[in-house]
Amino acid sequence: MAKNKTVFFCKECGAEASRWMGQCPSCHAWDTMVEAPEDKGRKAGISRLSKRECKPVSLKEVNMERESRTSTDMEELDRVLGGGIVRGSLVLVGGDPGIGKSTLLLQMCRNLSVKNESILYVSGEESLRQIKMRAVRIGEFSDSLKLLSETSLDDVIEAIYEMKPSLVVIDSIQTMVKADVESAPGSISQVREITSSLLRVAKEEEISIFIIGHVTKEGTVAGPRMLEHMVDTVLYFEGEQSSSYRILRGVKNRFGSTNEIGVFEMVGTGLREVLNPSEHMLMGMPDNEPGSTVTVTLEGTRPILVEVQALICKTIFNFPKRTAVGTDYNRINLLMAVMEKKLGPHLSECDAYINVAGGMRVTEPALDLGIVTAILSGYLKQEMPEKTAVFGEVGLTGEVRSVSQAMQRVREAAKLGYHRIIMPEANRKQMEELPKGIEIIGIGNIRELTSIFKTNK
Ligand code: TYD
Ligand code: MG
Repeated sequence: MAKNKTVFFCKECGAEASRWMGQCPSCHAWDTMVEAPEDKGRKAGISRLSKRECKPVSLKEVNMERESRTSTDMEELDRVLGGGIVRGSLVLVGGDPGIGKSTLLLQMCRNLSVKNESILYVSGEESLRQIKMRAVRIGEFSDSLKLLSETSLDDVIEAIYEMKPSLVVIDSIQTMVKADVESAPGSISQVREITSSLLRVAKEEEISIFIIGHVTKEGTVAGPRMLEHMVDTVLYFEGEQSSSYRILRGVKNRFGSTNEIGVFEMVGTGLREVLNPSEHMLMGMPDNEPGSTVTVTLEGTRPILVEVQALICKTIFNFPKRTAVGTDYNRINLLMAVMEKKLGPHLSECDAYINVAGGMRVTEPALDLGIVTAILSGYLKQEMPEKTAVFGEVGLTGEVRSVSQAMQRVREAAKLGYHRIIMPEANRKQMEELPKGIEIIGIGNIRELTSIFKTNK
């Protein structure tokens, strides 16, 4: 009897190898290779995406008409998708369980159902009653939205062919099962096979398909990351569980720019769009308190003001405790070391708790100067000068380096009433026309910050 052949896949990136390895040769992650049976039908399946004739064409013959897009009536979602849903595209929406993926997509279905688009919402996780309970909170739906509670992919595809909707939502890929793949639901081969089947349906029938994928921490279920190369668009829905703000981030988009974000707030009636995130991020910010700074970060093409808070107190332990919420822990340690060396405060004797308020996660280098000023302000117990925003990257010698899109950041700060901006000197030199009444303080090294605090006193 012929032996069933098995191959090894990396759980992180999906790379394939014929033997087990401790480290994935492709993404260099350790201990991520798992064994899975080779699927004989797979290669044949992927090779023909479309029924169209297989004939090479010249560039001149390619039709350049714009791809047709449907607006979701949610500005924040449209922006991340690159201006609406492209017909026949396959979109992956990933995120932690409970973050609001089902809610977001059901809400999108609602908006489109009101426009009488025919939609099929397939849930393998929830019963029809549970979906209804959620839908009641969201609002009115029209009858063009059909629900299906099903986990067998073959039945789902049959339903799609029968109904021929213009949009399908699969919630979630990890619960779907394809009968002719032997492994368990959520395993790498299942998830791959299902995605490639859905890809074929999307391209052949020109149906837009949204797939929900849970991001799992240590992977008994295959994560959405290994599907990224197969789909047209990858969106991640993220946010702190404790905060009601959610950020939808585009990490791949064949039909638009990536790195765009959409901001939402989870409320009792589903997700509410946050059209002016800066205002919301700064809501409830304390006035004139030491240890609090406003900084301008760039998310995609969009400048957003966020508050950085630092609580600095003398440590009672042998070595100081540091925490970072909403930013990178190692970056905090590095910046504190630079500050101690170049500015002189004895931070190695201090505990430091850093928080980017508002539930956003910022890892952009332009945040550095915000962190440094917040720490300094907390340490000196002196508040920042009034209505001041800061941004800039800080290097290891304490130099303040230029950042991208400085003008846009200044304009956003000015729009929210911040009239003094502390920023890299290198950027200040390039400034063209400034918004009225704005004072720019260009600095080349963090040493210059001390004089700002002194004059403030
Ligand atoms: P859900 O969309 O089920 O998350 P996911 O599909 O990503 O697992 O969202 C679940 C959370 O959202 C749950 O904690 C309840 C909350 N929620 C609201 O706060 N308001 C609402 O109107 C809805 C529908 C959900
Ligand atoms: Mg869900």
